[in-house]
Amino acid sequence: MDIVILRDSAAVAAEGARRVRTLLHKKRDAVLGLATGGTPLAMYRRLVADYEQGRVSFAKAITFNLDEYVGLGADDPQSYRYYMNRELFDKTDILHSNTHLPVCADGDDPDSVGPVYEAAIRAAGGIDLQILGIGRNGHIGFNEPTSSLRSRTRVKTLTRETLESNSRYFDDPARQPKIAITMGIATIQEAAAVLLLATGEAKAEAVQQMIEGPVSAMWPATALQLHEKATVLIDDAAASRLQQRDYYDWISEQRRALESQYGGG
Ligand code: F6R
Repeated sequence: MDIVILRDSAAVAAEGARRVRTLLHKKRDAVLGLATGGTPLAMYRRLVADYEQGRVSFAKAITFNLDEYVGLGADDPQSYRYYMNRELFDKTDILHSNTHLPVCADGDDPDSVGPVYEAAIRAAGGIDLQILGIGRNGHIGFNEPTSSLRSRTRVKTLTRETLESNSRYFDDPARQPKIAITMGIATIQEAAAVLLLATGEAKAEAVQQMIEGPVSAMWPATALQLHEKATVLIDDAAASRLQQRDYYDWISEQRRALESQYGGG
């Protein structure tokens, strides 16, 4: 796991956006895995600004989001489809037909929507870069604690803790769905590279477990320890409980020295 600790959330957003831009410069038709929630918002805003300044194009990009609430339609302001349209898709040159979120609509068979989504990811050639946030309980996507580390895209019941964390987005608690459809942990593991963003003190325990804890379904993000190309971009507050912080800073120092000697990154 590559651990990059930055000063604050603005620096995390800037570095996340830089990595997405770099990928799109190398591969215009890259397949991006996207996350919603509060953490990636600033990164999306930077990418929109980059697009407006002609620094990046999404014209050939394909996207697959991690998750979506069951029961909220695309025109519901709390749905993740609405969020993605508002924050990124409507503000860039991405083709809406190239953007995907998992959906379990009324009348759909909950057992078949996951495999259909996975087939679409495979047909697109697989995800090049999966963006992730992390829940305070260590979830990635909506893979809550005790999710199988081999889980695939499926319908999942949210924990009370996650419902409470996300209740701030719902004026009427009765409208907050308790069920979501999410990529599984095995699905996420298949991405060629993953980039997890975490900011703020509230994420410090989950970040510590993810990086330094034993691999366990109780902290689903620990599965990323088994990923070949996982990068964690965190700010000082989210890094505040790491026990080996000196070592991560030392690695970064060595990497910077190497880059200035040989270039690249
Ligand atoms: C969102 C998602 C979730 C969030 C996580 C953190 O698509 O899959 O795992 O990344 O709940 O949310 P925030 O960023 O709001 O703290």
